[in-house]
Amino acid sequence: MTMQPLLQVKAISKEFPVYQGQVFKKKTYVTQAVKSVSFDIFKGETFGLVGESGCGKTTVCRAILQLTPLTSGAVFYKGNCLSGMAKKELRKVRRHMQIVYQDPFASLNPRTKVRDIIGEPLVIHKLTQNRSEYKDRVEAMMTMVSLNPAISGRYPHEFSGGQRQRISIARALTVNPDFLVLDEPVSSLDVSIQAQIINLLEEIREKFSLTYLFIAHDLAVVHHISKRVAVMYAGEIVEIADRQNLYGNPSHPYTKALLAALPIPDPQASYKDENAMLQGGNGVMEHHAGCKFYVRCPARRHLCQVKKPVLKKVNQHDHMMACHLGES
Ligand SMILES: Nc1ncnc2c1ncn2[C@@H]1O[C@H](COP(=O)(O)OP(=O)(O)O)[C@@H](O)[C@H]1O
Ligand SMILES: [Mg+2]
Repeated sequence: MTMQPLLQVKAISKEFPVYQGQVFKKKTYVTQAVKSVSFDIFKGETFGLVGESGCGKTTVCRAILQLTPLTSGAVFYKGNCLSGMAKKELRKVRRHMQIVYQDPFASLNPRTKVRDIIGEPLVIHKLTQNRSEYKDRVEAMMTMVSLNPAISGRYPHEFSGGQRQRISIARALTVNPDFLVLDEPVSSLDVSIQAQIINLLEEIREKFSLTYLFIAHDLAVVHHISKRVAVMYAGEIVEIADRQNLYGNPSHPYTKALLAALPIPDPQASYKDENAMLQGGNGVMEHHAGCKFYVRCPARRHLCQVKKPVLKKVNQHDHMMACHLGES
């Protein structure tokens, strides 16, 4: 039996125009922030999306949530194409898809009391009948993320980074969503706090049968929480596999390099010496016909410069990578 994915991202691309000139700004070229990215996310799973800063992760999130128009491609939620939806219809679907941003300092309104930050989506989607229902819902959400409801009258600056991220999570959950986009939810937090937030997210996912797209810039963060992981480089997915295969049998040189930079307590990890490779640009600006990772790749050869590798199966599992390694 094949299950229909909850979310289908089909060959999405996003270009941003780049303007130059002092007085008359002229569009000189376009930045290809995301190029033909495809993946499916199934109900109940956590899908990890990993890549360096600037590789296009946030653009993918924004494109999924229809916060930015796509250059091409389409996004389907429960089989419905979001790209062509009328505003009103989209609003209804959007209630079920919530986002938690990387920086809780920037994403929470400093002049709004915590109870109203958490309760705002209830107002937007007109989900509560009266003040006491609103208050009960907000307090229940605070309790859920281990915040004391007695302090709901405080402002965001009175909370620590970890607590603010709990506020963001509570806010995302108030409207009972099915799907959460977590755009680097722990990247701005201390490592000790990161684990607490990840554990909280995992508990919540199980309790409410949620589905997650979990974004991170390093593979260690998504290791325990993800069922499947995709690695992005310069706007494209270069490897995608279930957790076991991605961490146990990393195949793309970039994935190997990312793993080499990990402080994983794995004495068998043999990719340590590839560490140096991660120095250099993220490749977004490199224009040539071949692989975008070419200039940084230790396994490069002439073919890689002239022919672009496409995603294809590495083994019998659904483990795919875009690399000429192993080809003759
Ligand atoms: N609004 C924008 N206008 C122009 N370029 C943008 C815009 N948003 C993102 N970009 C560019 O797109 C690329 C991907 O950015 P982003 O999706 O934020 O990456 P990430 O989240 O992985 O750090 C970067 O090169 C960035 O400079
Ligand atoms: Mg980002």
